[in-house]
Amino acid sequence: MEPIIEVKELSKEFKIYHHRRGFLGTFVNLFSRQHTVVRAVDHISFSMRRGEIVGYIGPNGAGKSTTIKMLTGILVPTSGHLTVNGYVPHRERKENARRIGVVFGQRTHLWFDLPVQESFELLRHIYQIPMKQYRENLELFDSIFELKGFFKTPVRQLSLGQRMRADIAAALLHNPDVLFLDEPTIGLDVVAKERLRQFIRQINVERQVTIILTTHDLDDVERLCERIILIDNARILFDGPLAAIRNLLSSERLLIVDYAEEYADVDMRDAVIVHREKGRVHYRFSLDEISAADLIGEILSRFKIVDLSVQEPEIEEVVRAIYENKVSIEQPVDGPLRSV
Ligand SMILES: Nc1ncnc2c1ncn2[C@@H]1O[C@H](COP(=O)(O)OP(=O)(O)OP(=O)(O)O)[C@@H](O)[C@H]1O
Ligand SMILES: [Mg+2]
Repeated sequence: MEPIIEVKELSKEFKIYHHRRGFLGTFVNLFSRQHTVVRAVDHISFSMRRGEIVGYIGPNGAGKSTTIKMLTGILVPTSGHLTVNGYVPHRERKENARRIGVVFGQRTHLWFDLPVQESFELLRHIYQIPMKQYRENLELFDSIFELKGFFKTPVRQLSLGQRMRADIAAALLHNPDVLFLDEPTIGLDVVAKERLRQFIRQINVERQVTIILTTHDLDDVERLCERIILIDNARILFDGPLAAIRNLLSSERLLIVDYAEEYADVDMRDAVIVHREKGRVHYRFSLDEISAADLIGEILSRFKIVDLSVQEPEIEEVVRAIYENKVSIEQPVDGPLRSV
């Protein structure tokens, strides 16, 4: 089968101009504008097949968003080739846009002052979505994302989790084949994150939507992606199954729970209490024994809580581990591994 996304030797450079100050500076600026070049994406190559979910991960400034922007046609590459659904995104922007959905977690694509429903109606017109498809999609997305409860609420008043669900549903209304999710879980609490992950998985399975997911959250990757592309400093450091580097990741997590009361017995079968201070309890647990979602579910079923958070390893740690363990990664685990 033809790959749905093909990226070959893709690079993007940004020129940053330095302005001289003062009267003379302005004069000099007219004739020579000094600049430095930032190479945000440096000869990146990969391809994806239909229905895949790839975790596109890396430290801050690695070049993830820049790659997504080139794939969506927002940015023009400095060099290299790329096709999405057979289209060259920056040259065939409209054709490409009709087949892709994009969500940037940092900002909404919906109209801030309009109720969700009206934003959706506008999108229906923009994409000329047939009424039947629109209605069917709304039904499906409501069954997954539970939209109806806030359908008439202006986007500006939505909680972050509601907004993200609305944003993802909006990005899917026109039945795209590919969905780009740039930090979709950013800022969400653990429970909302977990629900959103379930939604993303369901969309992928039920619609065979190909998904590129950018995230700093290793638990997103753990829960959603079989394959990861790890980029560091604008280059691909690793491309392969998560299983191949899972042993580099610690499976230990810390869950911090603020209970509504000082309950006497808050022991959990699959977690160890490592610290306790009034209503706040720190649990250590291993993902090999229980998922964060299940542990949280158990706690919520027994107690009232005020807040909770899960501490997970940082991407930077994985990057470091890969540099240090380069040799062991290059040993294929099952099948050939393309580690760069
Ligand atoms: N429009 C721009 N002009 C100049 N430099 C840019 C521009 N956009 C990105 N960069 C630079 O390119 C590099 C890659 O940025 P990019 O936003 O792709 O990183 P990222 O991997 O998405 O990071 P983060 O995890 O923080 O979102 C950074 O050094 C950034 O400062
Ligand atoms: Mg980014």
